[in-house]
Amino acid sequence: MSWNFIVFQASEDGLATVTIDRPDTLNALNAAVIAELDDAFRRVENDASLRGIVITGAGRKAFVAGADIRELPVGNAAQARNYALRGQDLMRRLERMGKPSVAAINGFALGGGLELALACTLRVASANASLGLPEIKLGIMPGYGGTQRLPRLVGRGRALEMLLTGEPVDAAEAYRIGLVNYVVPQSELLAFSQALLRKTFDKTRLGVAAILDAVNTGLECGLQESLRYEAAAFAALAAGEDALEGTRAFLEKRTPVFKGK
Ligand code: COA
Repeated sequence: MSWNFIVFQASEDGLATVTIDRPDTLNALNAAVIAELDDAFRRVENDASLRGIVITGAGRKAFVAGADIRELPVGNAAQARNYALRGQDLMRRLERMGKPSVAAINGFALGGGLELALACTLRVASANASLGLPEIKLGIMPGYGGTQRLPRLVGRGRALEMLLTGEPVDAAEAYRIGLVNYVVPQSELLAFSQALLRKTFDKTRLGVAAILDAVNTGLECGLQESLRYEAAAFAALAAGEDALEGTRAFLEKRTPVFKGK
């Protein structure tokens, strides 16, 4: 598949950077962007040399200003359901790819743009960012996971306020309520986000994948079930070569070299 609206770069150490680039619409998500992102996420998931992904928007104004309003399937319930499911599948693929992702939010992250950021492992905002779910103002509601992931991240009260008023929060407020992990000057955003992701690269990749899986799966289950799941994942990881290497390296006062085994 050729990519017309995203730019995909992969560095030698396995960091993929995807830039969404539709300047006419402030990088809005249309069907083509959704398909291209899906293709890019599959590549990151399946290419063993890639360790994680940073997602950002082109330009200085917007990360993603939402789903493309011209393509919203208003007036047709069946189409609208499929439309929501397609977007949800994309976000799910990103969330469950087994590799960490960072949203580098360089401006407006509205509607589907915030939903994309919510499906990432971590979020970094530039100081000019504005984050919100304004769908209610259009007479609709979020359909790419916003009603589910936002309350899980910032709590029910804050999420409901954002969902029901449609009002965005600025970067400082987003940080205060835990919606983003960091706020940095725009000029530093990409490098900061890439450096943050790289902090996971010298760890065991099996452990990174297991933690992502345990947290994501656990948040969808009851505590007892989740704890059992964690114990099983812990057992599998502890039986591997990387666990031996990590513990030995500590005792030998050296840096561990993990092989992903
Ligand atoms: N879908 C399609 N086009 C969009 C878009 C979206 N989600 N967001 C912005 N655009 C387009 C605008 O229509 C405009 O196109 P035009 O130049 O052909 O008129 C262009 O991007 C620039 O946007 P503009 O509104 O002129 O910029 P602004 O600085 O005045 O406002 C926003 C920026 C983000 C506040 C405003 O564009 C906006 O509210 N966008 C919609 C956000 C939204 O509701 N998203 C959820 C969709 S479900």
